[in-house]
Amino acid sequence: MDYRFSAAQGAALSQIAADALLVVLTADQPTTGSEALDKLIKDAVSSKDWECKAGKTLYIHRPAGVKAPRLVLSGAADASVKAIRAAVGKALAEVKSRGGVQHVALTCSAVLDAAHAQALVQAVDEATYVYRQTKPSAPKPAALSKLTVVAAAEQGAAIKAGLSAGQGVAAGVALARELGNLPGNHCTPTFLGQEARRLSREFKHIKAEVLDRAAIEKLGMGSFLSVTNGSAQPPRFIVLRYEGGAKSQAPIVLVGKGITFDTGGISLKPGAGMDEMKYDMGGAASVLGTFRALADLKPKLNVIGLVPTCENMPSGTATKPGDVVTSMSGQTIEVLNTDAEGRLILCDALTYAERFKPAAVIDIATLTGACVVALGHVHSGLFSADDELADALLAAGRQALDTAWRMPVDEEYGDALKSNFADMGNVGGRDGGAITAAIFLSKFTKAYRWAHLDIAGSAWKSGAAKGGTGRPVGLLTQFLLSQADAGAAAIKPMADKKAKPAPAARRVPAKRVATKRPA
Ligand code: BES
Ligand code: MN
Ligand code: ZN
Repeated sequence: MDYRFSAAQGAALSQIAADALLVVLTADQPTTGSEALDKLIKDAVSSKDWECKAGKTLYIHRPAGVKAPRLVLSGAADASVKAIRAAVGKALAEVKSRGGVQHVALTCSAVLDAAHAQALVQAVDEATYVYRQTKPSAPKPAALSKLTVVAAAEQGAAIKAGLSAGQGVAAGVALARELGNLPGNHCTPTFLGQEARRLSREFKHIKAEVLDRAAIEKLGMGSFLSVTNGSAQPPRFIVLRYEGGAKSQAPIVLVGKGITFDTGGISLKPGAGMDEMKYDMGGAASVLGTFRALADLKPKLNVIGLVPTCENMPSGTATKPGDVVTSMSGQTIEVLNTDAEGRLILCDALTYAERFKPAAVIDIATLTGACVVALGHVHSGLFSADDELADALLAAGRQALDTAWRMPVDEEYGDALKSNFADMGNVGGRDGGAITAAIFLSKFTKAYRWAHLDIAGSAWKSGAAKGGTGRPVGLLTQFLLSQADAGAAAIKPMADKKAKPAPAARRVPAKRVATKRPA
């Protein structure tokens, strides 16, 4: 998609050459300053064919006095980024299926700034996406190939900056969404490793390292490996690096859950809707997607991406309820429920993160059904004891229209994880399940500032519109950009936290379970 800016106002709006002209009007500014357009708007309102309200659109073919052969009016509740983005999405829906529309011009009665421009790129991307990888018969993507934002010349610089930032984020969102949509037999741990390598080949600021089972065993990641025991697919541990800052600058580490399919293991999930567990690598996809965005946007900071990835399958070699495994941190875990596997792969990645002496670590995971019960599909769940980090993430989410809601992490919730046979169990009860999952992870994050995003409700949509959302690439990218811009105010490693790394004394090699059946 080709994004442009063109300076025009007032009467000139009716003379714009494009296949379609989209006019977004806010309730308190329902006119354009073009006589021809304002007459059409007035007519539409008086004939009750349209009203200037959020969600209301009108398509007009061969509008009188307008050069563009197609005109769409779209109402916005107000001039907020959210409202304008929604109105643009509605307007695009009117033209995207019309084969003759290749070039769209868009103008708005409210003053557009960089944030509006960034969000509208997102809206265009969302409106024109078609999944085709394993469905080549899907309708061809829209003919739409060029979008020109038309506004006063003074807005030009801001709009151009927003359009280019928006394209970087959109490329990241698109990668995350596509990886999520890929079926589990295509998107395997090996495939995710190849995708990481592909990013590093394509973009010179990205480096990738992909560890195989032998290397993972050597690290002592006994908890991670216990999840892969039942699967024929080999696990991978992906390490991505984006080096945009000074060597001395502490990196931000992103850790993404990469379960390429979650059957539940021996604690097998019910059959209905189980296909959606192909999205259980949404955290991993958001890390890869965020790196894709970083490659475009090139902020001045250092970022590490860690992705533990495997399948969770039942078999004769699978981990059983009651098995005790030893994590890389040395802490032992009683696997009471093999379906609580996300935390088992994340905890070892969180221990691995210590070696980077990070400014902060953020893990992203489709971790619990309980988080969906709590927050539905609007906000991602944010868990952190660190107010500064939590506030920065919440603000980034609001800015990117990819919001999170903060949840509690009081120690009392951790009582549910007590075990008679290991340092901890991997599940508490049903109650507060998203919180006990976060508390479990916190036991591996004592060496640094840490936040956890539970994206179980936000990473994909169910039902007729089933599909990946690419969330929370928008939030994460915005957070990283803000950190790069913050200079001295950026989040720094906590001095007092460096002093006490997680216990590593009892590091014992993971029990390796033979994956071949005995003769
Ligand atoms: N991947 C699931 C979480 C999930 C479930 C995400 C449904 C989105 C929709 C995770 O591995 C899981 O199975 N969690 C269990 C934890 C339980 C056993 C404590 C859950 O939420 O049921
Ligand atoms: Mn599970
Ligand atoms: Zn899972």
